[in-house]
Amino acid sequence: MKLFLDSADLREIRRAVAAGLIDGITTNPSLLSKVAGPDNAREVLAEICRTVAGPISAEVIATEQESMIAEGRELAKIADNIVVKVPLTEAGLHACRRLRSEGIGVNVTLCFSATQALLAAKAGATFVSPFVGRLDDISQDGMQLIEQIVQIYDNYDFATEVLVASVRHPVHVLQAALIGAHAATIPAKTLHQLMHHPLTDRGIEGFLADWSKAGK
Ligand code: E4P
Repeated sequence: MKLFLDSADLREIRRAVAAGLIDGITTNPSLLSKVAGPDNAREVLAEICRTVAGPISAEVIATEQESMIAEGRELAKIADNIVVKVPLTEAGLHACRRLRSEGIGVNVTLCFSATQALLAAKAGATFVSPFVGRLDDISQDGMQLIEQIVQIYDNYDFATEVLVASVRHPVHVLQAALIGAHAATIPAKTLHQLMHHPLTDRGIEGFLADWSKAGK
């Protein structure tokens, strides 16, 4: 299972890369706005692309088909590992098909239903990003959506990868892995939560305490 970091913060990204745990990065306009503005967003994305060898999702701001395609082409020029993120709208699906026909990777984002995900696969998306946390927030079961999409993609051998997004806690990652999602994109906080277990800490303390008494 691939793990992507859901962040545009280069300090967080470098720390995760140093641990050797990250296969790619997803950004969105909200995440990018925390660390960059319209004047330097390209440079920040370029630096992220130099820092991480895997796919780096960069989202279009445009909402109309032709302007999305034009923006997607510009984003793709930043680096070979850019994946253009487009929203799951009619215009976004058109843009997906066109960008894919030009060899550009596309992540279709803001997916909230299995039938939307079916359309993303038919449009040739490289990744589809279903948002589990935002569904949970409105009392719908985000992980049930992941099960449905994985089953549909398996049924028809679609090449599109399911990239579980809007992950809020380690149980989301566990469930995504059990279902067999191809990837999950997780915030830095969740990545660190995944590494820690109180029994691991207590175990180390116990071993060190016992060892300090050895030979005495
Ligand atoms: C990633 O591709 C998404 O943009 C992100 O996971 C959304 O997460 P949020 O619902 O916590 O904003």
